[in-house]
Amino acid sequence: MIVKTEEDFNGLKEIGKICGAIRDELVQCTKPGITTKELDEIAAKMFEKAGAQSAPKGEYDFPGITCISVNEEVAHGIPGGRTIHEGDLVNIDVSGSKNGYFADTGISFVVGKGEEILQKICDVAKEAFDAGLEKVKPGSKTSALGKAVQNVAKKHGLTVIKNLTGHGVGRAIHEAPDHIFNYFSRWDDEILEEGMVIAFEPFISTLEEEVFLSEVDGWTYLTDESFVAQYEHTIIVTKEGPIITTV
Ligand code: CO
Ligand code: CO
Repeated sequence: MIVKTEEDFNGLKEIGKICGAIRDELVQCTKPGITTKELDEIAAKMFEKAGAQSAPKGEYDFPGITCISVNEEVAHGIPGGRTIHEGDLVNIDVSGSKNGYFADTGISFVVGKGEEILQKICDVAKEAFDAGLEKVKPGSKTSALGKAVQNVAKKHGLTVIKNLTGHGVGRAIHEAPDHIFNYFSRWDDEILEEGMVIAFEPFISTLEEEVFLSEVDGWTYLTDESFVAQYEHTIIVTKEGPIITTV
C-alpha cells in the first residue's frame, strides 16, 4: 500500500507494535523443553488481547497463528509437538492485522549455546537487513536492496536464498511490489515510492540458494544441507528515512 493519511500511519504502527511484541515474547519463551505449539499458544493469547488477528491463519488458513521453523525448516514451519533443544536454530515469523492494517516481522536465533556458524548466519542476516535498509528511500530500485543483501552475504562467504523474497504489505499480508529479491537482478526494477510499505526479509544461507516445499505438510520450506537465517521488518518508505513499524 501507499500510506496517504495519518490514520494509515497510526494503523500500521499499531499492528507493527503488536507483531513486534509477540515476536519478542516468543523469542524470550523459546527455551529447551518447550514445544512450538506451546509458543504458538502464547502468540494466540497476545493477538486476542490486542484485538488483532493472525495473518497466515486469516489470509491463508495456515494451521497455526505464527510460523515457527526449526533447524532444517527455513520458513512457514507449522507449530506442533516439536520440542526445542539447546543449540537449535529457530525462526519465529509473526504477521497479523488490526483494523485492516497488516505487519510482518521475523527473526532467526540460536537457543542457548549452539554451533558458531548458526550465530554467524543470524548476525549476517541482520547485517544484510541493515545494509538494505540504507537503500530504502523514494526513487530507489528494489534491486538495490537485493544487491546490498547479496554483497553482505558474499563478504562473509555465505549465500542468499533466491526463492524466498520480501514483498509489499499494508492492506494485505502480500501485495505489490510482489517480490523484493535478496540478490541483484537487472529485471528487478520496481521503484520504491513515498509512503510505500514493504516487508524486507533477507535470508542468509550457509550453502544452498534455494529452499524446497515439504511434500509432507505442503507448507514448510526446507533445506537439505544448509542452515538458513532470516531477519524481517515492515518498513514505511519516506523521504525523511525509513520507518520500521515492527520495532
Ligand atoms: Co514474515
Ligand atoms: Co514476509
